[in-house]
Amino acid sequence: MKGVNVFQTTRRIIFGNGSISRLPEEIKRFNVKKLMIITDPGIVESGIISKIQAILEPEGFEIQLFQEVEPDPRYEIVENASEQIKKHQSEAIIGIGGGSPIDIAKVTAVHATNDKSIRDFFGIDLIPLEGLKTILIPTTAGTGSEVTPIAILSDETEKLKKGIVSPHLFPDASLLDPELTLGLPAHVTASTGMDALIHAIEAYTSRNANPFTDPLAERSLSLVYENIRKAYADGENIEARSNMLEGSLLAGMAFANAGVTAVHAFAYPIGAEFHIPHGMANSIMLLPVMKFNLLGNMNKFARVAALFGENISHLSTREAAYKTIAALEALTADLNIPGHLSEFGVRKKDVPALAEGVMKVTRLLANNPRKIELEDAKQIYESVI
Ligand SMILES: [Fe+2]
Repeated sequence: MKGVNVFQTTRRIIFGNGSISRLPEEIKRFNVKKLMIITDPGIVESGIISKIQAILEPEGFEIQLFQEVEPDPRYEIVENASEQIKKHQSEAIIGIGGGSPIDIAKVTAVHATNDKSIRDFFGIDLIPLEGLKTILIPTTAGTGSEVTPIAILSDETEKLKKGIVSPHLFPDASLLDPELTLGLPAHVTASTGMDALIHAIEAYTSRNANPFTDPLAERSLSLVYENIRKAYADGENIEARSNMLEGSLLAGMAFANAGVTAVHAFAYPIGAEFHIPHGMANSIMLLPVMKFNLLGNMNKFARVAALFGENISHLSTREAAYKTIAALEALTADLNIPGHLSEFGVRKKDVPALAEGVMKVTRLLANNPRKIELEDAKQIYESVI
């Protein structure tokens, strides 16, 4: 092992079909009565919240429901949730949903205990005190946010998505029940599943990949690649759903420590400006960024092909690395992922500003296996307009 490596993750992870029924006993570990559930209107409509309320209410918990989380949430949503917490004196937070409700739950928990503005949290390690007790329950197999110390919120005035990174954002427990992901529509299964796959690829090829993160990324690459088509084609396939959720969890554990790289850096400016969903923005940027990055770590990109189940024994390292690109080209086509940003209203004239936006995402570009200059960024965007 080279240099010094640090590995951190969520301290308690509960995984399995039907594990949602364990929620009351998990909350009882905190010795609290008043809870706030943070989620979005889609999850309420799906019936998941009433199912959870039916599990919790007979146990005597007092539940305050906050369902105002929006896609690409503004940080003001946290202020609204915190106000409700104060009003109802909630003692713990249950965050349920995709990446947005989970990130809002994480930040609300620390905002409730730190007498500071959310703007003071943007950056790395700027949260002084730990937050309220938190349990996170993902309903998509994608973000891995239940095991990362990161939250991404939108700043509307600056038209930017900004990151908060702090060990205080780890929840006290994450509960993953694959049955909660059965109702996801196919296109959401595709874009969130691609996000998970990209977390694994980027963690695996990051400059900060290490012997703790590589085995997690490797298992995630195999699980997600093997199951994403099955889950897309048949959302009721519980085995595929379970493997996808496990894959996204492991990818989250890997990238929480190794970091993600330039695909995510390129996705942020287009996500913030053109409101392209995160998984979709990543999926469009994946192929051009990987083609650029290949030279930076040929061995690892070649190994990804083997993890995808490709036979690379007769191939050179370079040929095997290109096999990974070909496999991902076929995958994005099978999942009906758009190949061009123009489908979301991005024009050639937008490229210079977007490229400058990417160069500001230094937190992620520092992990990238190949150094990216402004001209490279422009060419990469132009290739997918
Ligand atoms: Fe992501």
